[in-house]
Amino acid sequence: MKLGAIPQNPLELAALAGGFVPTPILDTLIALLLARSVLTGAKLGIFDALAGGPLPVAEVAARCATDPRATEKLLNALTGAGYLRFAEGRYRLASVARKWLLKDAPGSLYDAVLLQLLDAEFVEHCEDYVRTGVPVDMHAGLTTEQWDLYQRGMRAGANLAAAEVARRVFVPRNATDMLDIGGAHGYYSVALCRRHPQLRATILDLPEAVAASAPLLAREGMGERVAHRAGDALTADLGRDAYDLVLIANLVHHFDDATNRALVQRAADALRPGGLLVIGEVIRPRVPGDGGQLGALTDLYFAITSESGTWSFAEMAAWQRAAGLRPRRPLRLLTGPGAGLQIATKPKLEGTQS
Ligand SMILES: C[S@@+](CC[C@H](N)C(=O)[O-])C[C@H]1O[C@@H](n2cnc3c(N)ncnc32)[C@H](O)[C@@H]1O
Repeated sequence: MKLGAIPQNPLELAALAGGFVPTPILDTLIALLLARSVLTGAKLGIFDALAGGPLPVAEVAARCATDPRATEKLLNALTGAGYLRFAEGRYRLASVARKWLLKDAPGSLYDAVLLQLLDAEFVEHCEDYVRTGVPVDMHAGLTTEQWDLYQRGMRAGANLAAAEVARRVFVPRNATDMLDIGGAHGYYSVALCRRHPQLRATILDLPEAVAASAPLLAREGMGERVAHRAGDALTADLGRDAYDLVLIANLVHHFDDATNRALVQRAADALRPGGLLVIGEVIRPRVPGDGGQLGALTDLYFAITSESGTWSFAEMAAWQRAAGLRPRRPLRLLTGPGAGLQIATKPKLEGTQS
C-alpha cells in the first residue's frame, strides 16, 4: 500500500506518466491537509454526529458545537477526500468512516487516529533529528492526558493485529502463564487468553502506562486472568522458569542493541523449558526501498521517536540465539502494516534437543 497521486481520468494518467504532475505539492500540502481534515473531523466528533444518518451542515455544526460556515468547509474537504458523501443538501458517512472512525464501532481506529495528534508533535522534530541524530524521548515528560491518548491509541491500533497474533502464535498446549513486557493496554494478552482458556497473563509496563491503561483492560472483563504489574522492564525482576510465553510487542524499537540483548536474556531466563519468546515489531527494511513507502516512512518515524528505531528479523533472532533460545522462521503479519513476529523456543532441557 502507498499514498500517492492517483490519476482519475486518462488526461491525468498521461500527465502523470509524462512527469507533469507536481507530486511534491501533493505529497506535502495535500497530504498535510488530508491528515488534518481527518484528525479534526475525529477530534470534533463530526463522524459520530453523522452516525445516525445524513444531516445538513447546520445540524452537524449544532451537534458538534462548531461554527457552521467553517464546518461546511471541513465537511466539503472530507467529502472530497472520500470520508463523507453529499446529496440533497445533506452529508453522510462513507463506508471507510463508518467502519474505522466511529468511536464505538467494533475494531474502531478512532483512538489510533487521535494518537496522531501526539505523533504530529514528535514528527515536528524530524529536521532536528536529522541534523543532530538525537531522537525524541517520547516517554519522558508526557502529561497525564498524553499518556491517556497514547494508551488509548495503542489499544485501538491493536484492533488490527491482535486476532492474527493470537492465531499465529503456537502456544504450547499445557501453557498456563504468560508475561507481556511493555504490554500497555494488554489487548494482545487478552486475545491470547481468550483463545487459550488455561492461560493467564501479567502485563508489565511503566507506572504511568498502567494508570492510563487500567480502564482499557478492565473493560475486557478478564478479571484476575489478565492483570497489570507496574515496573520498568529493564530493571524489574522477571523471575526464573516462571512463564510459558513471553511477549514483547512494539517495545524493542525503544532500546539499543545492548539493552535489547540484556532484556531478551532476562526474558529467556524467565521462560520455562519449552516456552516461547515472541517479539512483535515493525520490521526494519533490509535495503533502502525494501518495504516500499510504508516501510521506509515508519522506519524514519521510529528513528525520530525511539532510542534505536526498528530492527530486522535477523537482529532479533541473534538476540534470541545469544540468550540460548532457538529462533523460528520469521512471520510477517498480514494485518499489521510492516509488522512481523520473531518467535523463539527455549529448549526443553538446556543444551539438548527441544
Ligand atoms: C509502543 S507501546 C506498545 C504497547 C503494546 N505492547 C502494543 O504493542 O500495543 C510501548 C509500551 O512500552 C512501554 N514501555 C516503554 N519503556 C518501558 C520500560 N522501560 N519498561 C516497561 N514498559 C516500557 C510504554 O509505556 C508503552 O506502553
